[in-house]
Amino acid sequence: MADLSTNFLGIKSPNPFWLASAPPTDRYVNVTRAFKAGWGGVVWKTLGEDPPVVNVSGPRYGAIHGADRRLIGLNNIELITDRPLAINLQEIKQVKREFPDRAMVVSIMVPCEEKSWAHILPMIEETGADGIELNFGCPHGMSERGMGSAVGQVPEYIEMVARWCKHYTRMPVIVKLTPNITDIRRPARAAKAGGADAVSLINTINSVMGVDLDRMCPSPHVDGKGTHGGYCGPAVKPIALSMVSEIARDAETQGLPISAIGGITTWRDAAEFIAMGAGTVQVCTAAMTYGFKIVEEMITGLKSWMDAKGYASLDEFRGRAVGNTTDWQYLNLNYVVKARIDQDLCIKCGRCHIVCEDTSHQAIWPIVDGVRKFVVNDAECVGCNLCADVCPVEGCITMEHQTEGTDPRTGLRYDRPYANWTTHPNNPASTVKIAAE
Ligand SMILES: Cc1cc2nc3c(=O)[nH]c(=O)nc-3n(C[C@H](O)[C@H](O)[C@H](O)COP(=O)(O)O)c2cc1C
Ligand code: SF4
Ligand code: SF4
Repeated sequence: MADLSTNFLGIKSPNPFWLASAPPTDRYVNVTRAFKAGWGGVVWKTLGEDPPVVNVSGPRYGAIHGADRRLIGLNNIELITDRPLAINLQEIKQVKREFPDRAMVVSIMVPCEEKSWAHILPMIEETGADGIELNFGCPHGMSERGMGSAVGQVPEYIEMVARWCKHYTRMPVIVKLTPNITDIRRPARAAKAGGADAVSLINTINSVMGVDLDRMCPSPHVDGKGTHGGYCGPAVKPIALSMVSEIARDAETQGLPISAIGGITTWRDAAEFIAMGAGTVQVCTAAMTYGFKIVEEMITGLKSWMDAKGYASLDEFRGRAVGNTTDWQYLNLNYVVKARIDQDLCIKCGRCHIVCEDTSHQAIWPIVDGVRKFVVNDAECVGCNLCADVCPVEGCITMEHQTEGTDPRTGLRYDRPYANWTTHPNNPASTVKIAAE
């Protein structure tokens, strides 16, 4: 059976599934329950300086649901730990003693002053923790106090603090990045320049969940007022995956270990992030939605998939998708697909026809030989995938790669070799002109 054991910066865990720094990891009772359920590690809820922060007693979470009431996005306005530092440190020490085989990383957020970091790091090291994660990501509450994403948005600060941490502790340093930035490669490069051992991402995305149209304020509200919070859960996974891929393939940060976070809910999500280069994966919303036992399905699912694929260890597929992630200009413009509708599966709802007719290329006939039947007109189909995306029947519409003959839409042969935009005759910037045919 596949081996899920992980060694990330020398931090060992029986599997790559860590709980991200958040309410599931904020105290002894939670973390020990999590470890008993099978989680490979945790990043302890972010510690700060005493006196502890104070959270609101009104709603701190908001959610967006799918039509089936499944939670697809979660928003929070929670701050870092609101418990005294000494209690957290004592509990971290106790948990680490009881579960020495699990990864114990401690998240920290203190003011951007050297003395604050110099003061807290030895106390954390004394607990026996395996590493630290610098929370430069929290987009609400703490950022207004000059911490969290306020640091994560300034690469020079990231580099400076990472350097302090490497100076004041022997523990591995992971820099947790905020997605609330234009180019994620810059903070990642800064973390590396400061000597950080790894980056983790993403923290939450700045968001307002909705507007209460009776009270005319953001929802959920605290006594009639609302504020922006941090968005996470399944809805943010594509954003996280993109940012992880940017760092994994950037020449300056290639090879920098990554702990991936953002919407991970199933073993497949985890496998995708690992294929995109992640060393471990961190989970928050899925645990907050389904409870700690969800890790059992993640572990068994990942193991069975690896067995089916013949991967004995995570290293055997880690990063395999990175080389196939490229810029648009290198995509093969001679690769042609056409939509195909499986008439046995089709329930004749007509959605594919409507969207193609109204918003794509008018390429699906709704009536053939006088009967209601949905058929693709190859002479118009550009293979955009929209019909397959909206079709309510899974597998009913597929995109078929065309290899023989001529495309009735363009008049060009299907078997033309790879060619991309950089050499296309329509590209004013291309230096090598290759004829379209
Ligand atoms: C209620 C809540 C509190 C959080 N608190 C912290 C925190 O204290 N420190 C931190 O680094 N990230 C915090 N996060 C962010 C998560 O660790 C994680 O980066 C984010 O939720 C994305 O992962 P997910 O989509 O699996 O939830 C928090 C998230 C939530 C939902
Ligand atoms: S792939 Fe796009 S163009 Fe082709 S039939 Fe579907 S929606 Fe229309
Ligand atoms: S959307 Fe799917 S099920 Fe509905 S008509 Fe089109 S192919 Fe058939």
